[in-house]
Amino acid sequence: MTEFSERVEQVSISGIREVFEAAGEDAINLGLGQPDFPTPEHARRAAVDAIDAGKADAYTSNRGTPDLVDAIVQKHARDNDVDVPPEGIIATAGGSEALHIALEAHVDPGEEVLFPDPGFVSYDALTRIAGGDPVPLGLREDLTLDPATVEEHITDNTAAFVVNSPANPTGAVQDPEDMREFARIADEHDVLCISDEVYEHIVFEGEHRSPIEFAETDNVVVVNACSKTYSMTGWRLGWVAASERRAERMLRVHQYAQACASAPAQYAAEAALTGPQGVVDEMVDSFQQRRDVLLDELEDMGLDVPTPRGAFYAMPKVPDGWVDEVIDRGVVVVPGGAFGDNGQGYARISYATDMAELRDALDVMRAATNAVQ
Ligand SMILES: Cc1ncc(COP(=O)(O)O)c(C=O)c1O
Repeated sequence: MTEFSERVEQVSISGIREVFEAAGEDAINLGLGQPDFPTPEHARRAAVDAIDAGKADAYTSNRGTPDLVDAIVQKHARDNDVDVPPEGIIATAGGSEALHIALEAHVDPGEEVLFPDPGFVSYDALTRIAGGDPVPLGLREDLTLDPATVEEHITDNTAAFVVNSPANPTGAVQDPEDMREFARIADEHDVLCISDEVYEHIVFEGEHRSPIEFAETDNVVVVNACSKTYSMTGWRLGWVAASERRAERMLRVHQYAQACASAPAQYAAEAALTGPQGVVDEMVDSFQQRRDVLLDELEDMGLDVPTPRGAFYAMPKVPDGWVDEVIDRGVVVVPGGAFGDNGQGYARISYATDMAELRDALDVMRAATNAVQ
């Protein structure tokens, strides 16, 4: 007998934390994956009102309050043109738990899960925790995932593939045609597509479409959250959207691991989803302005940056020693290798920080670039 499970022994604490610690307290932090805006006032207010009225004291239904479930159903009809049944929705503790229950419910020990590399750190870790075998997939030059690469890697042992658009850490946005292809692959190979859409609304060029719109089977599970869209990372509120039978399996994991998502957060999320959406546009405009400045400057330094068309990350190719030099000079960026082997030689820069800090950070990056070249 071993003291700890082999599955968990294979997973290490995310490399991103280590970078924060290395940079010191006064550092400018371009390592964080969260918007620098407050949660919209009406969402906060809804939570406070629910607490004051004593509505948030008790467990809710495992899936979430009926009103939140309805708000999520309406959101999918409004934004994605799909009718997800209320029985297909589960409100979760952020997109993170949504990914976890999707993988737990669908992956058997030894089965393979395909995902983008570089990609969000949880895909590899949660696959291992579910007992599955991670299969990282290389990306196109523009850092999007080629559906043909997914199809080539599908075997009889593939349980699922993960698609993430707009993407962390690359900012890449898949074209609608790719999303249609992912749906076809899920249908034809009878394999699950987990579509992580937490950055759905943060798109500057191109268009976000979900594979669930195109699929003819129920082989797509959507993972989404209020975290990025409404600047609600601390509230921990996300969801899965799927067919009733898939949600029923995921509910078995959610019910025992979580019981229900936090009740106050559910009230805030309902208000965010049903309230005015202009706040989202304002955030996206601001991210776009910052992205444009960042891109211009990085290109001017001679760095090669695939144009990020969404989310709030850029992923330039950087010379050896660049990341350490930038961190030593007091700016936190994350080495691309934290997101998979194919991320080596890149750095992830999060520009969800105000313009003045971003400009200071860019001065540091310029000095670091000159120092290592
Ligand atoms: C691609 C992606 N998916 C899921 C998540 C998890 O989001 P949440 O904070 O809602 O758990 C993140 C968070 O950074 C992310 O970048």
